[in-house]
Amino acid sequence: MTVALQLDRAAILHSLADPAVVGVEQSYEYFEDGVLVVKNGQVARVGQAAELLPTLKGVELTEYRDALITPGFIDTHIHYPQTGMIASYGEQLLDWLNTYTFPTEQQFADKAHAADVAGIFLKELLRNGTTALVFGSVHKQSVDAFFEAAEELNLRMIAGKVLMDRNAPDYLTDTPESKELIERWHGKGRLHYAVTPRFAPTSSPEQLSLAGKLLGEYPDLYMHTHLSENHQEIEWVKQLFPERKGYLNVYDHYQLIGPRAVFAHGVHLCDEECQRLAETGSAVAFCPTSNLFLGSGLFDLAKLERHGVRIGLGTDVGAGTSFSQLQSLSEAYKIMQLQGKKLDPFKSLYLATLGGAEALYLDDKIGNFESGKDADFVVLDYKATPLISYRMQQVTSLSERLFALCMLGDDRAIKETFAAGQSVHRRD
Ligand code: GUN
Ligand code: FE
Repeated sequence: MTVALQLDRAAILHSLADPAVVGVEQSYEYFEDGVLVVKNGQVARVGQAAELLPTLKGVELTEYRDALITPGFIDTHIHYPQTGMIASYGEQLLDWLNTYTFPTEQQFADKAHAADVAGIFLKELLRNGTTALVFGSVHKQSVDAFFEAAEELNLRMIAGKVLMDRNAPDYLTDTPESKELIERWHGKGRLHYAVTPRFAPTSSPEQLSLAGKLLGEYPDLYMHTHLSENHQEIEWVKQLFPERKGYLNVYDHYQLIGPRAVFAHGVHLCDEECQRLAETGSAVAFCPTSNLFLGSGLFDLAKLERHGVRIGLGTDVGAGTSFSQLQSLSEAYKIMQLQGKKLDPFKSLYLATLGGAEALYLDDKIGNFESGKDADFVVLDYKATPLISYRMQQVTSLSERLFALCMLGDDRAIKETFAAGQSVHRRD
C-alpha cells in the first residue's frame, strides 16, 4: 500500500479539553509556526515546524501565510431540505413550520430535487468547514440523495429520515420504517444513521415507541430531535402528553435519550431536565442564530454546563440564518452578553470542534489533531476581508485574534476545507 504523506504549515490551534473543566490555559495547544502531518487521510503528528520539518525531508509541503489551521467545525444540528427557505420572514416556530417548512419539505419526494439540494447544501457546508448531524425530510429518497452526495466526498456525516405521523400535512406523514436506510448507510465509510422524530408533537405515542425500539436494534445509532425550543411548543407538548412530567420526559419514556441522542435547542429546560440529560449522556445542540431568528429565547449555556450536559454548536439552517459556525459563535457571544455572561474565545473554539465531537461521541475520530484522528480541518484566513485584516494588525494575543475571527468571520474567512486529508473546498 502506498503511504500518502502530506504536510501543511501555518499557525495551528486545537482544543484538548473543555475550558469549563480544565481552565482556559489547559484547554488548547497552539503552534505559532506549526506543521500538520497527514498520513493516509489521518493525522499522523502535529508540532512546531522547526522540530518536525527536519525529520520529514522530501515530503510535499503546503505553506499558508496569515492563516490559522483548526480542526473542522462540527455542526450538531442542521436541516438540509431547508436550504432554499433560509431567511423566510416573520413567523415564530409553529407558524414558521406551517407556513414555510412543510411546503418546502414536500418537494423532497422527488429524488432529483433532493439530489440537487443535497449538492448545494454540501457545497455551502464545506465553505464553512463543517461536518454535520443532519435532518432529511420524511422521504427515504431524501436521505439516499444526501448520503450519496456525502459518500462521494468521503465526508463524515450523520443523517436520518424524519418521522412524523400526526399534526402535520398528510403529504408529510409517514411510518418509522427506516431499517432499509439504516442497513444501507449506517457505518458505510464515514456515514452514520440517526433515528429522527421531528419533535414530540408530530409523532404519535406509537411512533415514538417504535423509534425507541429501532434504536435498540442496531449498535451506535443516533437519535436526533428538537426539544424545548419555544413556549407555545412546550405548552402543546403538555397538552398532547398530559401523563408525562414534561417535554424531556416524553422522550425519556419512549427510550429516546442516552449516548448519541442529540436534542436541538433546549432553550427552556428546568434543572431536573438538565440533570437527566447529563446523567444519561445525552447532548444538546446550541443553535444561536436560529434561537434569535425565531425569537425562541436565550440559551442558558452556563446552566447546562453546570449540570455537565454535553453541548455542541448547531446552525439549524433554515431557521438559522447562516451556515457559518463563526457567525453562530458571534451570536452565541451576544446571547451570553444579554444574560450578563461571557463566552471565552477558547470555549468558542471548543464548542465548534472538540465539544461537538464529544456531543456526538465521535471524539475518538474527529474534533482535534490527536494522532490517528481523521484529517478534517480548515484553513482560516487572517486577511479574509479588509476589516478583518486591519483588526488583526491591532491584536496583541492569540485570544484576541481568535475572538475577532469569531465575531467578524464567516465563509469568507475559510480559505480551504479538508476532509480526510482531501481538499473539498477552496475559496479562491
Ligand atoms: N421543531 C420541529 N421542527 C423544527 C424545524 O424544522 N426547525 C426548528 N428550528 N424547530 C423545529
Ligand atoms: Fe432544527
